[in-house]
Amino acid sequence: MIYLRELTGADVAIINEWRRDKELLSHLVAPFRYINIETEQKWFDDYLTKRDNNLRCAICSTKTNEIVGAVYLLNIDHVSRSAELGILIGKRELLNKGVGFFAMKMMLDHAFLNLNLHRVYAAILEYNERSIHVAETLGFHREGVLRESVYKDGKYHNQVPMGVLKHEYLASISSLGKAKGISQDLAHRNDETPEAEPPGKEKKAEVKT
Ligand SMILES: CC(C)(COP(=O)(O)OP(=O)(O)OC[C@H]1O[C@@H](n2cnc3c(N)ncnc32)[C@H](O)[C@@H]1OP(=O)(O)O)[C@@H](O)C(=O)NCCC(=O)NCCS
Repeated sequence: MIYLRELTGADVAIINEWRRDKELLSHLVAPFRYINIETEQKWFDDYLTKRDNNLRCAICSTKTNEIVGAVYLLNIDHVSRSAELGILIGKRELLNKGVGFFAMKMMLDHAFLNLNLHRVYAAILEYNERSIHVAETLGFHREGVLRESVYKDGKYHNQVPMGVLKHEYLASISSLGKAKGISQDLAHRNDETPEAEPPGKEKKAEVKT
């Protein structure tokens, strides 16, 4: 089970480790770069000056409190009420075990039910089928194709811009049979006790961290 909390300076070292992992980075739109710890620290310090429009959260295990990934809401636009979502599960052994789904759901709950955003979007590499699948499960729609817009590993790749409106998100959660789960999420989003069951798809209710 997991919970979200805002990143702190103490997370900079692990974020730097993940950003130097070529395999992890291969799933992201961002290019692989060599980033030293001082630059990473500046990146975090810069974030602290931009908190009005950006939220960077650690995904943590309720059992160990260890950071296992990060999920972000960036470029929050308070007029159009939109923001960009980004996510990375850094602890590789937890990939494909439901952590990403729950972390995205928790951040979308926050975006739509606390911040009252209207639209959340993400740009996902076309070959990142797992990420597209999780986004679609949460109500995101494909909004076209940005052809050969990302250069990675010596090749150009297509990006799929995806977006979800608040009512689409709520409908998709509801269609998963978890309409009640939304209010539970709000109650437990910051609950760090192991007993707090993150609601969501039944088959993922036993996510282990
Ligand atoms: C994308 C990411 C956040 C998803 O988190 P996760 O914990 O691995 O995913 P989950 O276990 O919650 O869900 C995986 C789902 O994808 C499905 N899946 C796995 N591989 C797949 C593939 N190749 N094609 C389609 N679906 C796939 C699984 O079956 C599961 O769906 P289901 O629950 O309907 O059965 C995570 O994999 C990650 O951090 N990837 C690297 C970074 C990244 O891609 N970030 C997103 C860019 S915006």
